[in-house]
Amino acid sequence: MRLRLSYQILVLAVANCSFALAASGPASNPEQIQQGRTLFLERGCSHCHGHDGTSGVKLAGRDDLTPDYVLSTIKEGKKSGGRVMPPWGSILSDGEIQALVAYLMSIQNAQNPP
Ligand code: HEC
Repeated sequence: MRLRLSYQILVLAVANCSFALAASGPASNPEQIQQGRTLFLERGCSHCHGHDGTSGVKLAGRDDLTPDYVLSTIKEGKKSGGRVMPPWGSILSDGEIQALVAYLMSIQNAQNPP
């Protein structure tokens, strides 16, 4: 009985830990999300994606975007039909791209908008 209880606590602790990592990533925090939001407006992402990612090529409130995919799309760009997303890998710093990823992940379905 005693053993079983501590086993359950261990399982819970591990589950909580990986949830925290999955939800926010190791480095994302409110300041980073705010920086990403500012960049999104200042760098013109909003021209094609709406000022909060909700129009044009919609990025907010989706359930299919992963941090890795968002990161590589921002770096390398994307072509879809006649539309083009320019690559930003040589324009933005890694830190700026990370901030944009943190912001975009913060406006997905699974989480509350900032
Ligand atoms: C000139 C217009 C344009 C600009 C500016 C632009 N994008 Fe895009 N973006 C697109 C297009 C077009 C796609 C591809 C849409 C598709 O696959 O249907 C895309 C796709 C994406 C995706 C992947 C979404 C998906 O459905 O595959 C992300 C993430 C993204 N853009 C982020 C950004 C960020 C961050 C910026 C600013 C640094 C930015 N975009 C600037 C046009 C733009």
